[in-house]
This record gives sequence, C-alpha cells and structure tokens, in this order.
Amino acid sequence: MDFGIRDRWAVIGASSQGLGFGCADALAAEGVNLVVNARRAGPLAEAADRLRSRGVTVHEVVGDIGDPAVRASLVDAAPQVDILVTNAGGPPPGDFREWDEDDWMSALRQNMLTPVELIKATVDTMVSRGFGRVVNITSGAVKAPIATLALSNGARSGLTGFVAGVARQPQLASANVTVNNLLPGRFATARLTQTGNGTAPSPQGIPAGRFGDPSEFGATCAFLCSAQAGYITGQNVLVDGGAYPGTM
Ligand SMILES: NC(=O)c1ccc[n+]([C@@H]2O[C@H](COP(=O)([O-])OP(=O)(O)OC[C@H]3O[C@@H](n4cnc5c(N)ncnc54)[C@H](OP(=O)(O)O)[C@@H]3O)[C@@H](O)[C@H]2O)c1
Repeated sequence: MDFGIRDRWAVIGASSQGLGFGCADALAAEGVNLVVNARRAGPLAEAADRLRSRGVTVHEVVGDIGDPAVRASLVDAAPQVDILVTNAGGPPPGDFREWDEDDWMSALRQNMLTPVELIKATVDTMVSRGFGRVVNITSGAVKAPIATLALSNGARSGLTGFVAGVARQPQLASANVTVNNLLPGRFATARLTQTGNGTAPSPQGIPAGRFGDPSEFGATCAFLCSAQAGYITGQNVLVDGGAYPGTM
C-alpha cells in the first residue's frame, strides 16, 4: 500500500534509536523527509545517515527536547511540518515517596508539556494546509499503570487527557489534521533494560511470547501518518503483543 505521504516533512523528537528511530525509518521508507533529534550528536549523525540511505532529506537537531529553544529549532528546520511525532526519554522508575516536586516537574516537562508545546507550534499551520498528522509516543502504562513508573503514569495521563480534547476540536478534525497516541507495550530497546531494575527483561506475560521490534512500532506510526488514516483521530493505539488484558 502506498501511504500517500511521499515528499511530506516530519519532525520526530528523540529519534536516534529505539521507538523514535523506528518511526523515522518507517516514514523515510514512505519517502517522507525528516527532522530528527537527540541529545548526543554522534549517535544522531549515525542515525541520520542510515535514514538518508532511504533517499530522503534529513536534518539533525541536537539538544534536549524539553528545552524550548531546541523545540523551536526542530520546527524551524523543516520547510513545513506535515507530520509531528512527539517522543522523549521516559522518566526513571522508583518509589513515589522518594520524588520531590522537581522530579515531577521534570517528568511533566518531558512527557506532557513538551508534546503540548510542539502540538501548539504546528497544528494551526497543518490546518491551513488541509493535512496534518500528530502521533505522540506514550506508553501502554497509560491503560495499565505500572506502580514503579508513577512519574510516567502521571505525566502521560495528563497528555492523554489533553489529546482527547484537542483532537476533537472541529477546526482540526474537519481540516484533515489528526492527533493520536501510540502506546508501546514492551519493545526491545535500551529503555526496556533501564526499567528492569537490574533484572534481565523477560517476555513473560506477553501473549506474543516476545518483545516488540521497533520496526513494528514504526510501521504502525507510518500508517497513522498516512493519507488513508484521515478518519482516525483522538485514539490511543496499543502495540503490545496482546499484553493488555482488557476488551478496549
Ligand atoms: N521500549 C519500551 O518497551 C517502551 C515501553 C513503554 C514506553 N516507552 C517509552 O517510549 C519512549 C521511547 O523509548 P525507547 O525504548 O525508544 O528509548 P531508547 O531506546 O532509550 O531511546 C531514547 C531516544 O530518545 C533520545 N532522547 C532521550 N531523552 C531525550 C531528550 N530529553 N531530548 C532529546 N532526545 C532524547 C535518545 O537519544 P539521546 O540519549 O542521545 O538523547 C534516544 O534516541 C520513552 O518515553 C519510553 O519511556 C518505551
């Protein structure tokens, strides 16, 4: 299937590896030009070269996506933003008794306010052009919270509530501008190892019997960004190998 997004421009936060890179690579395979981002310049340059081998234009913006100046550079690096994929590193696991207000503000800045600000900076021009796709990488923990990831549960739930409202604004939805959240279960990335509290990660409890591959996550992201997905908005799409046990 041709996703109908060749030559469009996508801005993708936190995308030198893992799920962000998976989304960037799947979009590049569809002929989408990219602005990619990470804090470490070396791995970002390597990732950008791999993406360029798909034949698309790739601009790199080094810096912390939580920094307003870095976000502005990301948006400015694209001639226009047709597709926005928001992503950032996840907050650390721990016991909520040990966190103070600064820990909470940091998680809220990274995983809630950064996507909100990027959406604010891009959706109105998407509306004026009659096409826009926003995909926020959140977490399966939004539907099934994990006690040790309370910073993530809280910040991402705030973003989920914001998206539920903004996606349904008639001025966005009627202008072919969609806003969805993509919820990873457990994927084989560096993040998976970091949240395992020192124990080797196990796919136990995942009906698929394995961890997800970032390319599978990226393919779902690319579909949500496709021309064909214009009637899907305000959704929380789980990609988790069947791990979430509920009916909806
Ligand atoms: N993997 C999973 O199973 C899973 C499950 C649920 C939720 N998630 C969430 O999905 C997101 C991506 O996870 P992942 O597994 O892909 O992680 P990952 O493999 O550790 O990759 C994180 C990427 O984000 C970049 N990054 C991190 N913090 C950044 C920042 N502040 N500004 C700019 N770039 C930043 C990293 O590069 P630099 O270090 O160079 O900045 C890297 O490119 C995280 O929020 C994670 O919590 C993942």
